Amino acid sequence: TDKYPHINRGLDGIIAFSSTKSAIDGEKGELNYAGYNIDTLAENASFEEVAFLLWNDRLPKADELEELNKQLRAERDLPEPVLEYIRTTDKNAEPMSVLRTATSMLADFDDEATDNSPEANMRKSIRMTARMPAIIAAFSRVRDGKEIVAPLKEGSIAYDFLYMLNGERPGEKAEKVMDICLILHAEHGMNASTFVCRAICSTESEIYSGVTGACGSLKGPLHGGANTAVMNMLLNLDKDADVEAFIRERLAERKKVMGFGHRVYRTIDPRAKHLQKMSKQLAEETDTVYLYEWSDKIQQVMKDEKNIDPNVDFFSATVYYSMGIKPDLFTCIFAMSRVTGWTAHFMEQAENNRLIRPRQLYVGEKNQPWTPIEKR
Ligand code: SDX
Repeated sequence: TDKYPHINRGLDGIIAFSSTKSAIDGEKGELNYAGYNIDTLAENASFEEVAFLLWNDRLPKADELEELNKQLRAERDLPEPVLEYIRTTDKNAEPMSVLRTATSMLADFDDEATDNSPEANMRKSIRMTARMPAIIAAFSRVRDGKEIVAPLKEGSIAYDFLYMLNGERPGEKAEKVMDICLILHAEHGMNASTFVCRAICSTESEIYSGVTGACGSLKGPLHGGANTAVMNMLLNLDKDADVEAFIRERLAERKKVMGFGHRVYRTIDPRAKHLQKMSKQLAEETDTVYLYEWSDKIQQVMKDEKNIDPNVDFFSATVYYSMGIKPDLFTCIFAMSRVTGWTAHFMEQAENNRLIRPRQLYVGEKNQPWTPIEKR
């Protein structure tokens, strides 16, 4: 690779688009969504308000928020064939794959699927945001041998999601924690899945394809799949494990420690600060303090050894685990939030589109003589 220094591996530092959706200051560790600091939003907003903000570049007025909530509640039911797919697919399938496939299927039952007008794109964004939680909850129940729970079509996305997942109404605290997690994951600049979504938009394809492709990108362990990998790493440790030695050994073998590092941040991810606080509180309340202590130790070793800080996926893992959520659903929860950012970017790209088509450097042979097959 050093032979071709002009190739920008991983498109590091390349500015490919302009956007009003979010700003990341990697040196300061600061994140804004459409003009609002993530700290301000985590403390004051609801996830639905954040969705409106990302889609419209401004906060909603009371009647606008009420109208959006009404639409998000009304659109939670899944078409019967999608439910049938969830009931009949392999119980051992990866939940993110099921979410990707079912999201793609939703297009077949949407009369507006191929309508690329801004108005139809807005309605489809609301529909996908409303339905993805129902897909995740339904598959989680089916694979556990339980009946699918229909949405209440009441309350927030966080509330109805936890109800569909567990079959009982969540408490105020659980709903609040989930809502903050959704706010923190909603949008993050030109990350890999958002780039994929914009690339799909650039061919004048439609928004279900954009979100389906983005799901496929998010589930990789270098991106949103890291939260599941973090939890699996923690759960694979013995209760009396020497966590410090374990991490040092991993680093010595040049293996990645999941949930750490970021292409843009040179300091702690501001989202991780909120998640760390919640992780600590929940660990104390649910008798999993050892998990928080391990996380704390891992954070110290990573700082001392590599000067690398946690990203959004590190503490979200223990937050969800303390809420009784299975590790392989963590990335799905990331997706049911990020769908708002993906769709916001899709609509922004569509407003001022040009086909995304970079170049490659060809490094093979050319114009070779033809060798008959028996002589090769
Ligand atoms: C998300 O882009 C986004 O905004 C994504 C995201 C979003 O909201 O959309 O923030 C969500 O995807 C968070 C990231 C989740 N991924 C992980 O936690 C996986 C572990 N992290 C890494 O693999 C890595 O840090 C990446 C993939 C996140 C970033 O990769 P880069 O920018 O290509 O960095 P790199 O792999 O080239 O690492 C640079 C150096 C290397 O050391 P040297 O070879 O220079 O000595 O840092 C080291 C790496 O080995 N390093 C790590 C490490 N992360 C970086 N070493 C050990 N463990 C790590 N986690």
